[in-house]
Parts: sequence; C-alpha cells; structure tokens
Amino acid sequence: MDNKSAIITGASRGIGKAIAIQLAKDGYNVAISYQNSEESAKEVQKECEEFGVKAIIVKGDLSLEKDCENLISEAMSEFGRIDILVNNAGITKDNLILKMNIDDFMEVIQTNLVSAFNCSRFASKIMVRQRSGKIINISSVSGLYGNAGQANYSSAKAGLIGLTKTLAKELSKRNITVNAIAPGFINTDMVGKFPKEFIDEVSKKIPLGKIGNTQDIAKTVSFLANSDYITGQVIVVDGGLSLG
Ligand SMILES: NC(=O)c1ccc[n+]([C@@H]2O[C@H](COP(=O)([O-])OP(=O)(O)OC[C@H]3O[C@@H](n4cnc5c(N)ncnc54)[C@H](O)[C@@H]3O)[C@@H](O)[C@H]2O)c1
Repeated sequence: MDNKSAIITGASRGIGKAIAIQLAKDGYNVAISYQNSEESAKEVQKECEEFGVKAIIVKGDLSLEKDCENLISEAMSEFGRIDILVNNAGITKDNLILKMNIDDFMEVIQTNLVSAFNCSRFASKIMVRQRSGKIINISSVSGLYGNAGQANYSSAKAGLIGLTKTLAKELSKRNITVNAIAPGFINTDMVGKFPKEFIDEVSKKIPLGKIGNTQDIAKTVSFLANSDYITGQVIVVDGGLSLG
C-alpha cells in the first residue's frame, strides 16, 4: 500500500494512540496530532515507525481553527495525500446542568465538535481533489442516548453524528466516505477519572461483562478504513451496554 496516509487527532495517548499504531500496522503513513505531551507523541511515532511507515508528530490545540489548518497542511506537505482523517481528540468537563457554566459547555463543544468540523473542512478539500478519502469521527454512546452530567459532551457527540451523516451525503459523489464510531466505556485516562466502584458497577451492566480496551476501537477504525461501501453510519462499540 504505497504512500497511503492517515491523520489521527489527539493521538499521543488512549484511543488515538491505539488508532495511530493500528493504522501504521495496516501500512499507512501517519500524522500524530498532540496538544501538550511531545514525549508521549514521540513514543507513539517510534512505535508506528517500527512498522516501516513514515510517522510525523504535529503539535496543536485543535479547538483553534488555525491549528486544525496547520495539522492538515503539515500532513499534506509530508505525505502528498490524505486518505484517512480520524477525528478523535476530545475532552470531558462533566457537571449537572444546574452547575455547568457556559464556558465549560463551549469548551467541550469547541474541542470535540468544532475541531472535527474544521479538520474535516480542510481535509475534505484535499480528498475532493483526490476523489477519494475516508473521515472517521469518534463519537460516543453519550451522543446517542444522553448521559446525566454530560450536557456539553453529549451535545458535542450528538453533533458529531449529525456532521457525519451530512458530510456523508455531501461528499459521497466524490468517493469520500464519512462514518462515526460510538464507543461505550473504554479503558483510558478519560475513564480513569471515575472511581473504581463506579467502573465495577458499570461493568455489571455491560452484557459482555467488562469495559472495552483501546484496541476494540482501533480495530473498528481499521475495518472502516478498509470498507468502501459504508457511509453515514454510526458503529456502536460498547460491549452491548446500549441494549439496556
Ligand atoms: N474512553 C472512553 O470511554 C470513551 C468513550 C466514548 C468516546 N470516547 C472518545 O474517544 C476519544 C478519545 O478518548 P480517550 O478516552 O482516548 O481520551 P484521552 O483523554 O485519553 O485522550 C484524548 C486525546 O485528545 C487530545 N486532546 C484533547 N483536547 C485537545 C485539543 N484541544 N487539541 C488537540 N488534542 C486534544 C488529548 O491530548 C488526548 O491525546 C474522545 O473523543 C472521547 O470523547 C472515549
């Protein structure tokens, strides 16, 4: 697979890291976006390069439009094409609506949703010229079903699903697919914020009896990266949690 390339946002740890390594293993050159930890990003870069592909790291705060534009243009100037964009970067700032202020609402929308809009906007210009490409948005079951304490996060993740379906319709004529993955509970720093008792309680409610791991999401990204006839879909990866 000569010269194919992928951009993964927020790839210095957690789900983004697993996706970058999986796509490198699949033979893609990878652009690893990171916000703060250069050291972690370099470790991911090294792990990716072990699969014989090129890997670059690009620093940026993707809540800012200019940093989204810079990420796409750095990847483009290094690799000459963009085959896959994975919009993975995200944060939580949980609180009940009675205690959530507008700044906490907007920060989560800006980081989780507006960043995906901006990265998709800049990448799709290139994909349209190539007449091929795949955009994969990491949403959440919180965006499908809501979650108490996550008015900001579930709004952003539901917004990502709307963005996915709309871009799928807009870009289909140019041979570009756009899909979303909605993870349930996945074992990363994001979920590590919750007390162990809470995770144990949640695990009991998951039909498969455990929270997921980052590989479960990375393998689903790999599947979508290899699928040409799926677009506008949301793949739920939650161990059956949403079955109720
Ligand atoms: N872990 C879960 O259970 C779970 C469930 C559903 C969805 N998700 C989603 O999966 C994605 C990855 O989550 P994770 O669990 O690996 O979280 P994480 O906190 O471990 O990693 C998030 C990544 O996003 C990056 N990031 C955050 N803000 C950024 C910004 N402004 N600019 C650039 N990068 C930024 C962080 O640096 C980090 O690399 C997120 O979108 C999250 O909402 C996670």
